Amino acid sequence: MVLSTGYNRVRTAVFISGTGSNLKSLIKFSKSKKSPISVDLIVSNNSKAIGLNYSKKFKIKKKVLNFKNKKLSENNLILILKKNKIEMICLAGFMKILSKNFIKKFKGKILNIHPSLLPKYKGLNTHMRVLKNKEKYSGCTVHFVNSRLDSGKIILQKKVKILKNETKVSLAKKILVQEHKLYSKAIMKVFNL
Ligand code: GAR
Repeated sequence: MVLSTGYNRVRTAVFISGTGSNLKSLIKFSKSKKSPISVDLIVSNNSKAIGLNYSKKFKIKKKVLNFKNKKLSENNLILILKKNKIEMICLAGFMKILSKNFIKKFKGKILNIHPSLLPKYKGLNTHMRVLKNKEKYSGCTVHFVNSRLDSGKIILQKKVKILKNETKVSLAKKILVQEHKLYSKAIMKVFNL
């Protein structure tokens, strides 16, 4: 990624819609000595997202935009990101699809984590579909975001084995544990660290 890390950490916004466990692990990572990023803004489309509580806990600014009018929300968001000098965006359980125009504005600077071994199982309900197809393995992927859903260049993946009595809940849990490790590893890779 062509970003001026220099001495300062890359100012990053994390977009969430729900629990925010990936957000929490990104914040923890950002506070480590080796991290090239700082988490300076939390963005959500959902005012009830539990993950928004990390704003208070870690004293990080938050913004909620309802995305009912996507164009309006995104234009507003672009201004907020500029004002906060945000250089990189990490999508972490963000359940809205960003427009081509928005993605173009942050070309090559938006990362996403997805709970499957992409290019397999793009979109929603991944664990259910994986189990239905009797897959032996699943996992998670961190990738760059482009204008096609879950299709940007893959940065890193982690495979997990599916056990005999696996349920979508147990699989989701198992993959989430790996997601928390993978996202920061992928960020290190993006910065050649
Ligand atoms: C994670 O499993 C993430 O990969 C997934 O939502 C969960 C969010 O958990 N994202 C997607 O499905 C995106 N299409 P979290 O809120 O605890 O980080």
